[in-house]
Amino acid sequence: MHGSPLSSAMSIVAALQELLSVAQTPLPVEEAVTMFRRRNISHNHQENDSLQQEAKVNELKAAIGPLSGRSLQYCTDACLRRYLEARNWNVDKSKKMLEETLKWRSNYKPEEIRWHEVAVEGETGKVYRANFHDRYGRTVLIMRPGMQNTSSPDNQIRHLVFLIENAILNLPEGQEQMAWLIDFTGWTLNTNVSIKTARDTVNILQNHYPERLAIAFLYNPPRIFEAFWKIVKYFLDSKTFQKVKFVYPKNNKDSVELMKSYFDVENLPVEFGGSVKLEYDHEEFSRMMTQDEVKTAGVWGFDSKLHHLSNGCSGAELAPEPVRLAPPAS
Ligand SMILES: *[C@@H]1O[C@H](CO)[C@@H](O)[C@H](O)[C@H]1NC(C)=O
Ligand SMILES: *[C@@H]1O[C@H](CO)[C@@H](O)[C@H](O)[C@H]1NC(C)=O
Ligand SMILES: *[C@@H]1O[C@H](CO)[C@@H](O)[C@H](O)[C@H]1NC(C)=O
Ligand SMILES: *[C@@H]1O[C@H](CO)[C@@H](O)[C@H](O)[C@H]1NC(C)=O
Repeated sequence: MHGSPLSSAMSIVAALQELLSVAQTPLPVEEAVTMFRRRNISHNHQENDSLQQEAKVNELKAAIGPLSGRSLQYCTDACLRRYLEARNWNVDKSKKMLEETLKWRSNYKPEEIRWHEVAVEGETGKVYRANFHDRYGRTVLIMRPGMQNTSSPDNQIRHLVFLIENAILNLPEGQEQMAWLIDFTGWTLNTNVSIKTARDTVNILQNHYPERLAIAFLYNPPRIFEAFWKIVKYFLDSKTFQKVKFVYPKNNKDSVELMKSYFDVENLPVEFGGSVKLEYDHEEFSRMMTQDEVKTAGVWGFDSKLHHLSNGCSGAELAPEPVRLAPPAS
């Protein structure tokens, strides 16, 4: 199913909106306004209520009940906090959401996706993890939708899930979120966008990686995106709205300043207004991903017989650092 230019633009904006919004069901107007009020009130209410949040985390923990294995490892306090945040601190809704994720993780096994299975998706460098973090220590995923040249939606999604897991693996202690740099160069509204794939992708991100995306920079997007986004603005609280930045670098001082405020220019590729030449080297990136698989195996405690490690180093030899994956919030 391929949409018209207009509907693909709308679906992408809607996707972004869903992804970044705390609301479960964005729009229609009345609901959005109610939600906005409620959120506004509860936001003020929460402003300084770390004790109450602590209590909610414990409540959710009790509601979920005893866990074991990878589910136990997944459900750190910081993780519970993200699910609560995504469901406006409603324990019942958060529990439901978290249970869905645990079910999804045990079927889809995102931590077991192997690089060699999805590497073909990355050959053009359409999505990869940057070798720098933003000023807040967030991992950065670089996306260049114009470089799409594969056709299996399932594998495209697995590739993205692999990279999101990898981004999480590479977060510094105390940081839970990532940043996306999306370069629309070479992308046109006529590019085939499967709405189903966009939906499936958004559903996974929204349902199973809540509060993981701190900010998305849309670099050189078609102007129509921004027009849509400005309309969407009226349905969003400013916190959510602030998460999407439109960046038009040409002769635009504000854009340059904006990028500088989030990134060290020394790190940033020229394509994103920095001073580094961006050269995606698929072989080198593949080597890095393969090395990270060792780290992943260590974190999740894989049986190395199930998980053949290509460079001969067993996951068990690595210092286990399960807490690094999702450090508990203080
Ligand atoms: C949201 O809260 C601010 C104060 O923090 C207040 O000025 C504003 O009127 C509130 N908006 C709504 C829609 O309740
Ligand atoms: C905010 O919360 C902390 C810890 O709960 C407390 O020590 C502090 O006094 C609170 N501040 C205000 C302004 O309520
Ligand atoms: C995608 O592009 C890469 C790099 O140019 C190329 O090696 C690969 O064969 C292409 N894949 C497909 C399916 O066209
Ligand atoms: C876009 O989709 C149409 C219909 O599925 C297909 O015929 C066409 O080859 C696709 N174009 C590209 C560039 O993939």
